[in-house]
Amino acid sequence: MIQLEQLSKFYGSDHDAICALNNVDLTVPKGSITGVIGVSGAGKSTLIRCVNMLERPSSGRVLVDGQDLTQLDAPALRKARHDIGMIFQHFNLLDSRTVYQNIAFPLELMGFDKNAMKERITPLLELTGLSDKKDRYPSALSGGQKQRVAIARALASRPKVLLCDEATSALDPQTTSSILELLREINQELGLTILLITHEMEVVKSICDSVALISGGELVETSKVGPFFTAPSTKLGREFLEEFLRIDPPKSLLDRLSSDGSDKPYPVIRIIFNDENVASPLISQLARSFELDISILQAKIEDIQGHTLGLMIAEFRGNAAHIEKALARLSDMQLSTEVLGYVD
Ligand SMILES: Nc1ncnc2c1ncn2[C@@H]1O[C@H](COP(=O)(O)OP(=O)(O)O)[C@@H](O)[C@H]1O
Ligand SMILES: [Mg+2]
Repeated sequence: MIQLEQLSKFYGSDHDAICALNNVDLTVPKGSITGVIGVSGAGKSTLIRCVNMLERPSSGRVLVDGQDLTQLDAPALRKARHDIGMIFQHFNLLDSRTVYQNIAFPLELMGFDKNAMKERITPLLELTGLSDKKDRYPSALSGGQKQRVAIARALASRPKVLLCDEATSALDPQTTSSILELLREINQELGLTILLITHEMEVVKSICDSVALISGGELVETSKVGPFFTAPSTKLGREFLEEFLRIDPPKSLLDRLSSDGSDKPYPVIRIIFNDENVASPLISQLARSFELDISILQAKIEDIQGHTLGLMIAEFRGNAAHIEKALARLSDMQLSTEVLGYVD
């Protein structure tokens, strides 16, 4: 378990210091995968680097399995770090060492002998699918393979916690999903607690149990992943969700669309819906109750860990007063709706 308590970090000297983290409280439960999401510069890397003291917090506490790392002297901190593995966006492998030697590196520092090392490394090569690449140098590996080496190296000391700083941001979508799958497997098989940071909702959606949203060094929202994707509770959360769901209306629609409702009578509406208000019965009910013709112009449905999340763009045709009532009904239902424009 990781607990961050009132964590703050300033870079630079007093008068022109940058506040990268401001009184952050965050708990990562044992065995969970927790994602911290935010835009570039939000403080994500600072936060994760404070967990293993790569950055010293300016104030606050960092507890890993109940031990406050901010209070440890250098030897005690070195020992505590064996419990914390870390992987990075750009892998940070040693180019002059083979795959095997890269994974061996932390074990050498811990004073392992050759045999003990081999005993540790062989199953890690297997776990990460690198057994046949153990004598290769990083320059002969793909990005995904490099990240697998980094994961094996991070696991060599048998940590309880794995920190991932944008670990898939340099990878293509297919490689990203295979690395995320590996992380999920490690989480489940080894019971490893994972804290990852990302700017991508897709990563959060794929493997996280919980998510924390950070902005300007402050924690703005924490939630389980299902509720976060179906009903984020902050404006920033909704912006991330919209970005994730974004589908551009087809050009043929955009050409017809006017921002002014006075010359074109029929609204085009974007609706975000979830488990509680699955769209299709809703649309047919509205059509029936208010005698409208509703055409669905575009739709997207996502399954978020068993929760349904969807976005729909639809055109409402009918009597103006009836359309107004239908829109009022939608807003009563707490659905997120937006009029994109009008058509005739
Ligand atoms: N070593 C540093 N020295 C000075 N400012 C830094 C340093 N590292 C990060 N910052 C600043 O702290 C803020 C948060 O940065 P960072 O934690 O890297 O954010 P993120 O990982 O979310 O992009 C940014 O304003 C950044 O410019
Ligand atoms: Mg960063």
